[in-house]
Amino acid sequence: MCCLGRSLTRREATRYAWPMKPMEFRDRWLLVTGASSGLGREMAKILATEHGANLIVVARRQERLDSLKAEIAIASSAQVVTVRADLSRLEDTDRVLEEAAPYPLYGAVLNAGVTRFGPHGDLGWDAFRQMLDTNVTSVVRMTNSLLPSLETTNGGLLLVSSMAGIFPVPYQTAYSATKAFLVHFGCGLFHEYKGRRVSITTYAPSGLVSEMTDGERFTPLRRWLMPTERAARQGVEALNLRKYLYIPGIVNRVGGAFARLLPRQLTTGIVGDQYRNALGRTRGW
Ligand SMILES: NC(=O)c1ccc[n+]([C@@H]2O[C@H](COP(=O)([O-])OP(=O)(O)OC[C@H]3O[C@@H](n4cnc5c(N)ncnc54)[C@H](OP(=O)(O)O)[C@@H]3O)[C@@H](O)[C@H]2O)c1
Repeated sequence: MCCLGRSLTRREATRYAWPMKPMEFRDRWLLVTGASSGLGREMAKILATEHGANLIVVARRQERLDSLKAEIAIASSAQVVTVRADLSRLEDTDRVLEEAAPYPLYGAVLNAGVTRFGPHGDLGWDAFRQMLDTNVTSVVRMTNSLLPSLETTNGGLLLVSSMAGIFPVPYQTAYSATKAFLVHFGCGLFHEYKGRRVSITTYAPSGLVSEMTDGERFTPLRRWLMPTERAARQGVEALNLRKYLYIPGIVNRVGGAFARLLPRQLTTGIVGDQYRNALGRTRGW
């Protein structure tokens, strides 16, 4: 059930695991944010073309959403509704919720997110606010609004966090902190809602090959990145099985469990060294 440390015993699972059947996505409506690229786009494609789910897909780039819709139409009969929105703006987040309201939502994948790779001192206040509002505020706003309706459909929510939310990542310090918020938020809600008719899953991938890691600064770290399609498949499965906190990839899970045994100052220092070196190569440090 969990991915850090050992699995729950049968007795513990009876008490602390989700007492609901796996989800069944066919002909159900799911909302996917950040569906214009990377993980969100891949999860949307898998949900629609392999599981037969109908989708409301959200992002700022309308043309990307349109091309996703066209791609899905070729491969399946799933219905797709596109909503262009900037989720760093509360009014846009609320408009997405209004536009989604007529649909009997069964699931939501709150995946949209942004990062900045560099010294924290270089992150301007406006950029920080935009990150916080996209990665945290819009997710809480949507979660608050969606949980009551998801409960009426026995549905599920997937919050896309990151391993950077479990282990601090220097040089993505504020991003890492926004993702830590999601880990605590999702795991806390899981227990608050246990025994009710909706599940809350927190998904925490390691680095992925996507636009987020496209930049030159990520080049030295690229060999550690997981293909997005693989992470998307495991994300859909984690939602489907109503998992608790899930890290894709056995190496990441074992590495994560091992890293928790070590002093945080050591593990964060090692990660910080790698990121400083990567940054230094592109900055000529
Ligand atoms: N890449 C990684 O290494 C990694 C690792 C762990 C977790 N994650 C998490 O996975 C999620 C997806 O990231 P990704 O790797 O797939 O990156 P990506 O390719 O850059 O995708 C990010 C998605 O979020 C959307 N988005 C960003 N800001 C938005 C805003 N203000 N309003 C609406 N949509 C917005 C983008 O769409 P538009 O630009 O069209 O708006 C895009 O669809 C993020 O939450 C990220 O934190 C990523």
